[in-house]
Amino acid sequence: MRYEVDFLVIGSGIAGLSFALKVAPYGKVCVLTKGDASEGSTKYAQGGIAAVYGGLAGADSFDRHIQDTLIAGDGLCDKAVVEMTIREAPERISELVGYGVSFDKENGHYDLHREGGHSAFRILHHKDNTGAEIERGLLQAIHDHPNIELIENQFAIDIITQHHLGQHVTRHTPNIECYGVYALNGNTHQIDTYLAKVTMLATGGMGNVYSTTTTPVISTGDGVAMVHRARGVLRDMEFVQFHPTSLYNPAEKPAFLITEAMRGAGAILKDIHGNEFMHKYDQRLSLAPRDIVARAIDNEMKLAGVDHLYLDAREIGKEGLMNGFPTIYAKCLELGINIAKDMIPVRPAAHYQCGGIVVSTEGESSIHNLYAAGECSCTGLHGGNRLASNSLLEAVVYAHNAAQSACKRIADIEYRTDVPDWNADGMVLNEEMVLITQTKKELQEIMSNYVGIVRSDLRLERALNRLNLIYRETEELYNRSVVTEELSELRNLIACAYLITKQAMARRENRGLHYSIDLKK
Ligand code: FAD
Ligand code: SIN
Repeated sequence: MRYEVDFLVIGSGIAGLSFALKVAPYGKVCVLTKGDASEGSTKYAQGGIAAVYGGLAGADSFDRHIQDTLIAGDGLCDKAVVEMTIREAPERISELVGYGVSFDKENGHYDLHREGGHSAFRILHHKDNTGAEIERGLLQAIHDHPNIELIENQFAIDIITQHHLGQHVTRHTPNIECYGVYALNGNTHQIDTYLAKVTMLATGGMGNVYSTTTTPVISTGDGVAMVHRARGVLRDMEFVQFHPTSLYNPAEKPAFLITEAMRGAGAILKDIHGNEFMHKYDQRLSLAPRDIVARAIDNEMKLAGVDHLYLDAREIGKEGLMNGFPTIYAKCLELGINIAKDMIPVRPAAHYQCGGIVVSTEGESSIHNLYAAGECSCTGLHGGNRLASNSLLEAVVYAHNAAQSACKRIADIEYRTDVPDWNADGMVLNEEMVLITQTKKELQEIMSNYVGIVRSDLRLERALNRLNLIYRETEELYNRSVVTEELSELRNLIACAYLITKQAMARRENRGLHYSIDLKK
C-alpha cells in the first residue's frame, strides 16, 4: 500500500507523541509504532523529569540546573543547548500538565525528588512510575485528536532518500533528502510506502545492544541505524550510560530499575559484605553522577568476584518506601525481598544512549525534511554523560522546537511521488530463527564484555573484529531473505554496536561515560 501524510512520526514515546500533538493543527499526522502504542522506555521511566518548576521559592535556580548538567556532561555539553533546554523547561512541563499528566504534590507544592549529580531537589515525579503517567496522558490526548492517526504494529525499515530513486548517495553527498519511510505492516506482512513531507524519528534507545539492560525489547536503535544507512550524521555513540542500580534478577529481561531517587531519599550503596564503599570513589558518595557510581560498582564487583552488590534502603522506613516507591516495594516483595528489612541486590545495566542522530536546535537532522527527537537524537545537551531525569525533559523541549520548525516549512515541501515501492522479488523466507537469535546473543555478549563500562584498546579491537564477522553473515542473510522485524532489528543492533565501538576507539581520552584502562583523563 502507498500512503501520503503531511507529518509522519516514527515512535509513540514521549518524543513522538509530543511532536504529533504540536504539529496536528497544521496537517494530517500519522504515528507509526512497532508494537503496542504504550511500549517504549517512556512507560518505564521511574524517577521523573528534571526542571526548575513550581517547588519552594528560592530553593533552586536555572543556573544551578545548568551547572549540574554541564558538570555531569564532563565538559562536552553544548552550553547554549543546555541553557535553552533548561530555561524552556517550565513551559514544556506546563504543557504536560495541560495534557492531564499529574505530578505529585505535597502541601500545595510539587513534591520534588533528588537524584545523582543534582545539587537540589528538582525532579517532578508521579510516585515511582512517572513515565507511565506521562505516556498515559499523552496517549489520551492523541486519541482525542481528530488529525492524528496512530497505527500499531508498523515497523519502519528504512527512510526513503535519493538512494531509492537510483542515485548513488555517500556521506559526502550534499542535500540528502527524506521522502518518508518503508514500513513492514505487522498485520499484512507487506511492506508499505509512506510518503511524507516531514518525517520525525522518535525511535528511542538501543539498550538491547547489551545483555543486561533496563530498556524494553523495542529499544534496538532502529532510528539511528536507519540514519546511518542513509548516510546521515551521528555522534557521541561511545557515551553509553549504564544505570548503577538495576535489580539483580538474572532471568528477568529487561532488568527492573531501582530508581536513583531512592538514593536521593537516603538509600546507600553497600558491598557484598554490607559495608559502604562509595567514599573510596567520590565525595558525593552514593549520589555522585552515574558514570562514577556505575564504574565504582563495576570495580567493587570485580574485586570481590561477585555479580551484584546491595542498595540499603532500610533507613527510609516502611511507610516512606510504600508511599514513595510503591512499584519497587511491590516488585521486590513479589521476589521475596522485603526492602524495609532486606538490602536490595543490584548491578549496573545499559540504560541510555547519550549519542545518536545529530540535530540542530530546531531538531532537524543532517538529512533534509528529517527530524529526530528523544533518545535517538544527539542534541548536545548530555555531552559525555546525561544528568539523571534530563532525558524526558530533552524529549519535550526538542519535540516542541522541531514542531515549530516543521510547521513553518511544511507549506513549501512537496511529496516525492516517483518513489518506487519496496521490491521483495526473489527473496525467500528465513526458516531458521536460530540464525537470528544466536547472533543477537553473540552480539550482546561481545558488547557487554568488550565495550561495556570499562574498556581497553585490546577489548575494542576484539569487539570490532567479531562485529565485522557477524555483520557480514547478517547482511548475507538479509540480502536473500524476506524482511522480518527480528532480522531488521538484528541488523540495526549490529549497526549501533559498530558505531559505539568505532567511536569509542576514536576517543583517545577518558571522558564522561567512555573509560578505558589504556587512556588518561
Ligand atoms: P521511547 O519511549 O523508547 O519510544 C520509542 C518508540 O519508538 C516506541 O513507541 C517504539 O515502539 C518506537 N519504535 C522504535 N523503533 C521503531 C521502528 N523501527 N518502527 C516503528 N516504531 C519504532 N529519563 C528521565 O528523564 N527520567 C527518568 O526517570 C527515566 N527513567 C528511566 C527508567 C527506565 C527503566 C528507562 C529504560 C529509561 C529511563 N529514562 C528516564 C530514560 C527515558 O525514559 C527515555 O530516554 C525516554 O523515555 C525516551 O523517549 P523516546 O520517546 O525517545 O523513546
Ligand atoms: C532513575 O529513576 O533512576 C532513572 C532516571 C533517569 O534515567 O534519568
